[in-house]
Amino acid sequence: MKFFARLTHWMGKDKNSKFSDSHTVKESSHPSGYVPGDSLQKLEKKKLKVTDLQIGMTVVELDRPWTDIPVDFQEVTIHTHRDIALLQQYCNEVYVDYISYTSVTSDNLFHKKTNKSSTRKATDAEQTSRALRAELPKAQKAFDRSLSHIHQVLDDVANSSSIDVQAAREIVADCVDSILRNDTAMFWLTKIKNQDDYTAEHCLRVGILAITFGKYLQLDREQLELLGLCGMLHDVGKMQIPSEVLNKTTPLTQDEFDTIKQHTRLGYQYLSSHGDIAPEVQQVAHNHHEQIDGKGYPRQISDQELSLFDRIIAIVDSYDAMTSDRCYRLGMPASQAVSILYNEQHQHYDSQLVQLFIQMVGIYPVGSLVKMNNGQIAVVLSTNEDHKLEPVVELLTDPYRKLIQPVAVDLSKHVTDSFGNYLRIKRSLADHEVHFDLKAVLLRSTPSFQVA
Ligand SMILES: [Fe+2]
Repeated sequence: MKFFARLTHWMGKDKNSKFSDSHTVKESSHPSGYVPGDSLQKLEKKKLKVTDLQIGMTVVELDRPWTDIPVDFQEVTIHTHRDIALLQQYCNEVYVDYISYTSVTSDNLFHKKTNKSSTRKATDAEQTSRALRAELPKAQKAFDRSLSHIHQVLDDVANSSSIDVQAAREIVADCVDSILRNDTAMFWLTKIKNQDDYTAEHCLRVGILAITFGKYLQLDREQLELLGLCGMLHDVGKMQIPSEVLNKTTPLTQDEFDTIKQHTRLGYQYLSSHGDIAPEVQQVAHNHHEQIDGKGYPRQISDQELSLFDRIIAIVDSYDAMTSDRCYRLGMPASQAVSILYNEQHQHYDSQLVQLFIQMVGIYPVGSLVKMNNGQIAVVLSTNEDHKLEPVVELLTDPYRKLIQPVAVDLSKHVTDSFGNYLRIKRSLADHEVHFDLKAVLLRSTPSFQVA
């Protein structure tokens, strides 16, 4: 409950806070800015004594040859205490995949949510698929309407016209309605991306991710609508950046990067002088590239000067930017983005919120693509807070990557494939790694057939 006491503290502080006008970092989505791969390399695996192994960890390297121990693969996810006993019998130390290590140990470091109504449990796979398909048409309607309005808003900003704030509030309310009914459908739709429409789609996805995270944090409806508006309008200042700089496909010069950075101040100035925009929305446009360590931009403010909404948007903005294809680079798998958020939590983000965000999206977020240990490709239908490595998935292809009639599978029920091998996730896939039309697959109207 300590965390929610902090939430209350921040909300109270925001109401009284003065918005200082001194000005000034992280353009995580741009080539001359943040290069996330560096930090990931250092944290791909962690050395552990076998006495410290826990269920849920994935062992990727031993202190002896894999051929010395009786396992089928050169990687083992620990499902039972017998698995631990086996490793203890043969090894003294092992290397554990860092994501699985983080997943298991973060449960011990941070309080577990006890409100069962907001905890994602492993649900029946078919029921999950049916609930998603039932909400998808309504979610899609809200999504399309929102995207259309965001295009209008961005055009208005580009033309220095006033924006229709009331219409913006209405489309955010539609998104909140859908997410409160079923948060999977909207999250799922954020996976359908069009690189040529990045700025508008990114604004919408950040709004949806923020509302979904706000729901997880148990914010009330009024706060969710305000947070959603913060997300959808956070980057409007980019419309006042020359398009040849904003959409440049080659590395930026320092001057060009400094120009890009101006979008936060320009967005704040625009929102504070056009229409009746809530101060929280203005503030997020100004502060979403600030960092906890005070090394962000534009003003290099830090920690206590950043509101809860500033901190939430900073996390979901980076997550979406890292997982999206851009004109100058391809997006990364969701699990890699989660790992980077974790690694940079103390410098760039609010670490407690990063932990909670990771708890929410899981190691394999809803809508993300994964490769199974037998070669099949699947998409994650719902996460499982108690078994983070075993979500409900839809198998989309056979082991030879040929599309099949999708089959929903709850991996926590230890399902076997046709060869009798336990199905488990081998790794995350980036969207560009699959060879089929992801949009057509995600928007199918019929629920998948359930085998477990
Ligand atoms: Fe931005």
